[in-house]
Amino acid sequence: MSLITPNQSLITSSVKDLVVVLTGGAQGVGRNVVEQLYSAGAKVIFGDVDDNLARQVISSLTSTSSSSSSDQDPGVHFVHCDTSSYNDQLSLFQTAYSRYQRIDVVIANAAVSLPRDPFSAANLTNEAILTAPTMAEVDINLKGVLYTARLGYYYLRKNPNPEHRGDLVLVSSIAGFKECEGLVSYTASKHGVIGVMRGLALQAAKEGVKINTICPWMTKTRMVRGIEKGWFDLGLPSNEPADVAQAILICATANRSPTPEQGHQGAVLPFSGKILWVGGGKSYEIEDRLQSLEPEWLGHENSEILKKGQEYLHSAETSWDNK
Ligand SMILES: NC(=O)c1ccc[n+]([C@@H]2O[C@H](COP(=O)([O-])OP(=O)(O)OC[C@H]3O[C@@H](n4cnc5c(N)ncnc54)[C@H](O)[C@@H]3O)[C@@H](O)[C@H]2O)c1
Repeated sequence: MSLITPNQSLITSSVKDLVVVLTGGAQGVGRNVVEQLYSAGAKVIFGDVDDNLARQVISSLTSTSSSSSSDQDPGVHFVHCDTSSYNDQLSLFQTAYSRYQRIDVVIANAAVSLPRDPFSAANLTNEAILTAPTMAEVDINLKGVLYTARLGYYYLRKNPNPEHRGDLVLVSSIAGFKECEGLVSYTASKHGVIGVMRGLALQAAKEGVKINTICPWMTKTRMVRGIEKGWFDLGLPSNEPADVAQAILICATANRSPTPEQGHQGAVLPFSGKILWVGGGKSYEIEDRLQSLEPEWLGHENSEILKKGQEYLHSAETSWDNK
């Protein structure tokens, strides 16, 4: 575990004029990311299902600031996009690319948490079991992230710098690596988001596309309204949406530092395949340590033999296609 202290000036200077596509920007964490990026001069194209709130975001930004905006380009754009629809996401990316002819950063943020756990006793009655449960969390949070990752990867690969073509940031959750009673489908979807990163990050890094994942703990947005009173009664720590937004921006900028000294303190470069746990307002990288401790938790012998298998599977000559 390594605490990462952001260098705010790296964030502000390096996002200026970057073209950023984000899902779920109408409120909560996503909205905060849109606001921070816009005020630092990035070009932001965000999708959401809540058209009214999204338009409010656009008008509040463009009426109060002239950041990166001009008469021809307000610098922030909304496209209606349900992440579970591939065509919606395609049109979000196409809108961004046709306007700016490039995309530099992609943030898969949109998600839902539904308070109707299909595994609760109330939903396991003789009658309830006859109806298929909703799969909205899987469709939006996991299938949607796979769509964002695929489209994002496609567009980021077009950028010319082979060392760093761009950044894909995925938003998972504490539910991406811990038990979460009462949220079975959400937990499965968020474990899946880490799976998207672990499935794609090595291949993408070879092409200069860096993929990292955020796992926020309790963050004060509408998503946690059901549990917040008890949480605060216990004095447990929480994040502001801006703290999680900052973790996302750490991932989007860590590889953009002109020198190591100007980087985010504690960020090991290249910043790729990392997981940032965000708790109590702070960001901690947890994946490197998990991987380095593998011989301890898997056993030294198992770890050695696994390494051989991984080397074979990851070699350029190996293919899963059954010829
Ligand atoms: N709040 C927390 O404590 C917490 C903890 C862990 C992870 N997260 C994750 O952080 C991210 C942001 O969540 P938040 O807390 O800001 O929640 P939020 O509900 O405030 O914001 C989510 C945004 O996603 C949008 N959205 C919902 N369904 C969508 C769809 N199908 N397509 C496109 N947009 C859609 C919503 O309209 C909203 O603007 C999510 O991935 C969430 O799982 C939040």
